[in-house]
Amino acid sequence: MVSPWTIGIIGGSGLYAIEGLEEAQWIPVDSPWGKPSDEILCGRIGDVNVRFLPRHGRGHPISPGDLNARANIDALKRAGCTDILAISAVGSLREQIEPGRFAVVEQFIDRTTSRDNSFFGTGFVTHVSMADPVCPRLSEMAATAIAGAKGKVATGATYLAMEGPQFSTRAESRMYREWGADVIGMTAMPEAKLAREAELPYALIGMVTDYDCWKDGEAVDVGKVVAQMQKNSQLAREAVVRFINALPAERESSPIDFALEDAIITAPDHHD
Ligand code: ADE
Repeated sequence: MVSPWTIGIIGGSGLYAIEGLEEAQWIPVDSPWGKPSDEILCGRIGDVNVRFLPRHGRGHPISPGDLNARANIDALKRAGCTDILAISAVGSLREQIEPGRFAVVEQFIDRTTSRDNSFFGTGFVTHVSMADPVCPRLSEMAATAIAGAKGKVATGATYLAMEGPQFSTRAESRMYREWGADVIGMTAMPEAKLAREAELPYALIGMVTDYDCWKDGEAVDVGKVVAQMQKNSQLAREAVVRFINALPAERESSPIDFALEDAIITAPDHHD
């Protein structure tokens, strides 16, 4: 039986491939929005089609600010994805969300400044709702899969997306805590906004690697991030496989499949 789900996986730092993919093949996918980060690893887990894209490219050549999120999301849509599960290294802004834990993200504060963040513009003016920026169905299944793989989970996290590539100052880190952010990263925006514009339900698993720099005079560095990612990447891969194996046989449609229905303000006879 063919599954109605085609799951796009966007892998973060340290997650450049997934195991257990049958008939796996790296396939180049062209996009009018430019070059995606890499070819897409296409294959199956059981009946479910899987499309894996390493966010920073294999070998991590692409910096967060240089990611072409429009090309990445568009390429996944063209590759037939119905839904996206994204994984990303994050710093923690909360004592109880310690390194090693997995934060399932529910909200975002977008502080990125220099990135192309829409497929639309003048001539086709579109304001999509981001009130509930992630798909609750995928997020719940992601939390269950992590717990099933014996990972520690924090649900309902608010993700602060920063521009980078430098890490935050201590004053910024303290301010983000006051704003109510729980985790911090450089990559999930505008990715999540573009997924919504592409009418793709999206969930984000943050792999917590560090306490940023708000706590006890500590400060994050790349060594800490990479070391923690290496400790957790096997568990993340296992959670992804569990997530896919647990998908229901039917895929009920999601309101996100129709996100553009009430979003386009330009009159049809004025479209370019
Ligand atoms: N990615 C992992 N840890 C981070 C941090 N502390 N700040 C921003 N991005 C991160």
